[in-house]
Amino acid sequence: MSVIFRNNTSSIIFIVLVIILISCPPIQTKDDPFRNAKAIGAYDDGTILVEVKDSLRLIYPNGTPHSIPKIHCKKKCHYHLLNPNYVIITYDNNVGMMIDWKGSKILKRFKYDKLSIGEKNDKFLIMRHNEFTEYHIEHGKIVKITNSLHFDKSHKEHKEHKITEIFSLDDAWGITISSEKKKSFFSIIKTESKSKTLTTEELEDFAGPSKCITKNKNNDIQYYCLYRTHTHRLKLVNIKNLSLNDNTFDLTSTDLFQSDISFETKTFIHIMPNVGFLVEATAKLNPKYYIFNIFEIDYFDPNNAFGEWIINNNDNDFIDDNIFILPNNKAIQIRKNGKYVNDLSSKIPENNQYKNTHIKSVPNNVDIGTTTLKITFLNAITSTTTTAANISIYYKNKNSNEIILRQKLLCKKHCTISDDDYSLTIDIPKITFNMPNTTYYVEIDDDFVKYKYDLITIPGIKKENWIINTPDYKYSNEDDKFKLGNLRLNSIGTEEFDKLSDADKDYFSDQMRIELSKNIPVDYSRIKINDKKYEFDMTLGVNLYKFLIQIDPPNEYSDNKKSTKQVFEDLNSLIITSQNLTTNLDYNNYTKNIDKDYGLKEASDTLAELKASLNNFIADRRYLIIIIVCLILIAMLYFYGRYKNKKV
Ligand SMILES: *[C@@H]1O[C@H](CO)[C@@H](O)[C@H](O)[C@H]1NC(C)=O
Ligand SMILES: *[C@@H]1O[C@H](CO)[C@@H](O)[C@H](O)[C@H]1NC(C)=O
Ligand SMILES: *[C@@H]1O[C@H](CO)[C@@H](O)[C@H](O)[C@H]1NC(C)=O
Ligand SMILES: *[C@@H]1O[C@H](CO)[C@@H](O)[C@H](O)[C@H]1NC(C)=O
Ligand SMILES: *[C@@H]1O[C@H](CO)[C@@H](O)[C@H](O)[C@H]1NC(C)=O
Repeated sequence: MSVIFRNNTSSIIFIVLVIILISCPPIQTKDDPFRNAKAIGAYDDGTILVEVKDSLRLIYPNGTPHSIPKIHCKKKCHYHLLNPNYVIITYDNNVGMMIDWKGSKILKRFKYDKLSIGEKNDKFLIMRHNEFTEYHIEHGKIVKITNSLHFDKSHKEHKEHKITEIFSLDDAWGITISSEKKKSFFSIIKTESKSKTLTTEELEDFAGPSKCITKNKNNDIQYYCLYRTHTHRLKLVNIKNLSLNDNTFDLTSTDLFQSDISFETKTFIHIMPNVGFLVEATAKLNPKYYIFNIFEIDYFDPNNAFGEWIINNNDNDFIDDNIFILPNNKAIQIRKNGKYVNDLSSKIPENNQYKNTHIKSVPNNVDIGTTTLKITFLNAITSTTTTAANISIYYKNKNSNEIILRQKLLCKKHCTISDDDYSLTIDIPKITFNMPNTTYYVEIDDDFVKYKYDLITIPGIKKENWIINTPDYKYSNEDDKFKLGNLRLNSIGTEEFDKLSDADKDYFSDQMRIELSKNIPVDYSRIKINDKKYEFDMTLGVNLYKFLIQIDPPNEYSDNKKSTKQVFEDLNSLIITSQNLTTNLDYNNYTKNIDKDYGLKEASDTLAELKASLNNFIADRRYLIIIIVCLILIAMLYFYGRYKNKKV
């Protein structure tokens, strides 16, 4: 047996508790000194209540133990704590009583059909013959609220109903009911409600157990219940808009796991104040813990990925209702085997920007030319049989805000799981992150990996949830001049291009130019297509269309300040990596038939260069103006000469 604390601050209590348990003579037998100790819970002031050999012991926060005089129950006593300093004792035949720490009886024998201790251990609710009585302590005195509640009899489902459980919530009472037809219903009423007639909503596939909690955030009170279904799943129910007038409410429910994780019958649900639920369950004969942070995470958002496996409880030989949660959310567990101490606090799933609680971290900043991306998970993972899960990386254009695919790759081929099973590395081509000071997004399809020890496949990361930024970089490109390269169409592309009219051919090459610029990415003005002509491919024995591409150096207005050589390499890599990975080029009519094996080849053609130089020369307005001025001057000289000649 050992004790688990969730936080450093409680390690003092931990040490104290261990020392006390060790030093307590009644529980120190030779072979297993802790065999009969059972934790019941902790009061708001940190005092812990333990049951040792049918008697009760308090351990104050300063470590002092205190025994509560023994209470005699005919068979077995069950203890529940009630703040600030009471114990509720229940025994056979649904009889209960309440004592204080001195052992004095505060509430004598009371009978009940159902009993529920409030979620904050500050009140309790009993039900007997449809009469509900809530007890709470105010200034050291017991205050009692009693209401006779009844169901709407016109609802024929409720003719033969049975109340299965009651919940003492923050400001309300929750009730689960089963009908003759094996259907289950939920009902809720505020303690100060005007109407005593309960309204019901069906709980789909309800099997139990169940627990309910109040979430009061920004004065918006909502209730959540968690239950196990007949099909061994967990369902989360959200209850809101509870009316004070007629007890009506809105109820919605969602499955907490997409896939069937097949809980076996033994399932315990615990309330974690200000978090949600801690579930102890066995699946495939393995005890497990799951924490659902309903205060932080919207489990109803279909774009949210959730359903986390917490601890593989291998070291606990059986699962039992042996956890209690301190008011400050530290979980304590008494175990048979004292060797393992797990800190659960790091396991509470937080709402992260990736909206995927299975993931612990992903990089949000990478260097230009990065070739790997590493995802770290909360739990051990393994590969799935799903072969089609893709990872897509997008680039966001700063000016147009357009989001453009850079690469899409199959995880099956490009992902490697680490030796410790806790992380996944994605291999990406160098060309993917090629722009400085730029935003990229990574999107991952569902089921890209699964849990190693559970039947849970991990949902992916939806679009625009994983943001990656690249650092700034200053390129210096003095004396840069234009560069020429050839790319060509494959045989299908050539055949289609052939069919086009001359005007359409020009349109095609201009569209191709725009698409290439967008996908490199580089300013449109820096890419030109100077020429297109057939080239005979010796190996294929066919004529293919070849385009002469001219890449110009950047000017002061260019977004992409890379040199002509770097842009050339980027375009070549983009085309060549498209052999094995999907890029945006594959989705565009004007670029999809570019010959990927050919890539972009340097054009050393002097004639072409001369032509390009000339084109450039003409394209430059300053030169053009000089030429025009010269031509005008020559013409003027000529006419002046003629005029002079005539005169003579
Ligand atoms: C229920 O509550 C939501 C907010 O929680 C509100 O937007 C909605 O209008 C309410 N519906 C009704 C019927 O009152
Ligand atoms: C992943 O990408 C490949 C290639 O584009 C495609 O065939 C496959 O259907 C994609 N998978 C999913 C789940 O979309
Ligand atoms: C980086 O980009 C942001 C906006 O996208 C811009 O405001 C900032 O000036 C850029 N940094 C440099 C050094 O260009
Ligand atoms: C594409 O895949 C083939 C076969 O796996 C490999 O030989 C080739 O080098 C790859 N190309 C690139 C650009 O990675
Ligand atoms: C691409 O071509 C197909 C058929 O040739 C046509 O249906 C589609 O609209 C085209 N797409 C674009 C973006 O032009």
